[in-house]
Amino acid sequence: MLLPDAIDLKRIPRHVAIIMDGNGRWAKRQGRPRLYGHKVGVETVQQIVECARDLGVEVLTLYAFSTENWKRPADEVGGLMGLLKTYLLKELAKMLKNSIRLTCIGDIARLPKDVRQVLEDTMEKTASNDKLTLNLALSYGGRSELIQAVQHIATEVRDGSLQIDAIDEKVIDSHLYTAELPDPDLLIRTGGEARLSNFLLWQASYAEIYFTDTMWPDFREEAFHSAILEFQGRERRFGKTSAQVVSE
Ligand code: IPE
Ligand code: IPE
Ligand code: MG
Repeated sequence: MLLPDAIDLKRIPRHVAIIMDGNGRWAKRQGRPRLYGHKVGVETVQQIVECARDLGVEVLTLYAFSTENWKRPADEVGGLMGLLKTYLLKELAKMLKNSIRLTCIGDIARLPKDVRQVLEDTMEKTASNDKLTLNLALSYGGRSELIQAVQHIATEVRDGSLQIDAIDEKVIDSHLYTAELPDPDLLIRTGGEARLSNFLLWQASYAEIYFTDTMWPDFREEAFHSAILEFQGRERRFGKTSAQVVSE
């Protein structure tokens, strides 16, 4: 890997989350079907995972399929599910070799059974890996995540195991799919749109957001390094003044 000198390896974001957008438009521009864009997008995933691991990122969350994406034409949904299954089967050996742990967030009960089985199998086999956590957001929606968290919390209150006064940020965090993960430090969206599309609504409250016009199939190592550099140039104030942050 060619690493630009300017990247400070001591200030790598712990958790990078990416909205991988633009596969369809990228393919259309070349007169190819949308699924071709998704296929090349998988190659980008392979490169970015490797790159994140080499940089020392702890968690890489990839938004691969949203709750809203179920509304797409059945052949595109089927194609995406097929690509996911093939990707998991193909990458297992590499995940084991590179100590990558696979996790997922989302309503995976909605995934086709064969895909869910491969997913669960991959998660189980990589569970003790400790270099990079590759967290796939699948059938994921920030709002449905919050709804299920509220339902669980309400049940605990009703059953008397949780007091209303005890509900704080930690309690909410612990009821989200991301319970054991740190909040994202850097949130990237490729494909030119500047919106969150229901991604990590609670967790991204202080993430640095990076929007780029580059379409996901073209977002390779160099583009990822540019995003990291931009992140490192920002001052994260968390509500404080710049002078306070500098003196910390
Ligand atoms: C992102 O690319 C991949 C998924 C949402 C599954 P799109 O399929 O949204 O591509 P565009 O936005 O139509 O170009
Ligand atoms: C967001 O992209 C979801 C994923 C990247 C998986 P979309 O293409 O679905 O988002 P919208 O519909 O343009 O907001
Ligand atoms: Mg899109």
